Amino acid sequence: MYVTSLSSKTTLDKLKGDFKLIDCHFERFPDGEGYVRFDEKVKNIKEILIVQSLYYPQDEHIMQLFFMIDALKDLNIKINLLIPYMAYARQDKRFKDWESVSGISLAKMIDRFELESKYTVDIHDLKITKAMRGENLSAMPAIADYLMNLNLKEPVIISPDKGSVERAKIVADQMDAEFDHLEKTRLSGDTVEIRPKEINTRNRDVAIVDDIISTGGTMAKACEVLKREGTLKVLSGATHLLMISNAEERLKKAGIDCIFGSDSIPSKFSDISIAGIIEEMF
Ligand code: R5P
Repeated sequence: MYVTSLSSKTTLDKLKGDFKLIDCHFERFPDGEGYVRFDEKVKNIKEILIVQSLYYPQDEHIMQLFFMIDALKDLNIKINLLIPYMAYARQDKRFKDWESVSGISLAKMIDRFELESKYTVDIHDLKITKAMRGENLSAMPAIADYLMNLNLKEPVIISPDKGSVERAKIVADQMDAEFDHLEKTRLSGDTVEIRPKEINTRNRDVAIVDDIISTGGTMAKACEVLKREGTLKVLSGATHLLMISNAEERLKKAGIDCIFGSDSIPSKFSDISIAGIIEEMF
C-alpha cells in the first residue's frame, strides 16, 4: 500500500512491511496561504492511504488534508483516509443555541470527497465517525500491551467518567485486570464525593485511561481522588495527548506517576504507536 502524510510522519516512520511512502511537501506563500505538492512517484500509483492527524494547528492540518485529497483525486487515485486525531470532535452537538456543531460539519465535509474508506481512532463520540460514514479503530489494545510490560501491582484500569468505560474495559480485558469508573455522588447541596464506583484501589496500582488529555484537569482530579484512597502508583494515559498549556505540570502536581499515550498526536509522552493499527487494516 502507498501511504502519505503531512502531520503524521512520525507514525509513518514506524510502519513495517509493504508500505511505500509517497512524500508530500508543504510550504507557505508569503501571504500565508498553504501549498501542497507530492513527489513525482505519485504519478504511477492507483491507490493510496492518507494518514493525517488533525491536531494543532487544526485548521492548517485540515486544509492540508483537503488539498492532498483533491490533488490525488485529480490523478484518479483511489484514496483511503485514516485520521488519527479528529479535530473538533468534542463539539459533537449544539450546546448553545445558534452555535455551529463543528465536529459534525467537518465530518460532513470529509464525507463529500467520496473516498474508498475512512477511519477515525478512539473518536470522542461515534456520531462524528458516522457523519463521515467511516469506521472507528482503537488504540486501546496497544495501550494494554504497553501497560502489561510495566509490572504493575494488582492493576486496576479506571475510566475517569462513564464516557470512557468501554475503552477502559478493552484495556482491562486484555490485561486480565479489573476495571471501574469514577463516580460523582452528591452528599449535600454543596458537597460532592468522587470515588471509584466499586473497587477499592488501596495498595494497588491504577492506570486511568481516557480518549483525550487536554488541559489535564480531568486526570488531575481523578489522581487526587485515587491517591486519597490509598492507591499506590497512578498512571495517566489517553489515545490523544493534546497536553494543552501546563497540562504536564498540572498532572505532576496532582501526583501522577507516569503519563502515556499514542502517537496520534506527537509529544514526548507518545510512546505507543498506532502504526500497528494501520498495518492491521491495510
Ligand atoms: C471529555 O469528555 C473527554 O473524554 C476528556 O475527558 C476531556 O477532553 C479531557 O479534558 P481535560 O484534560 O481538559 O480535562
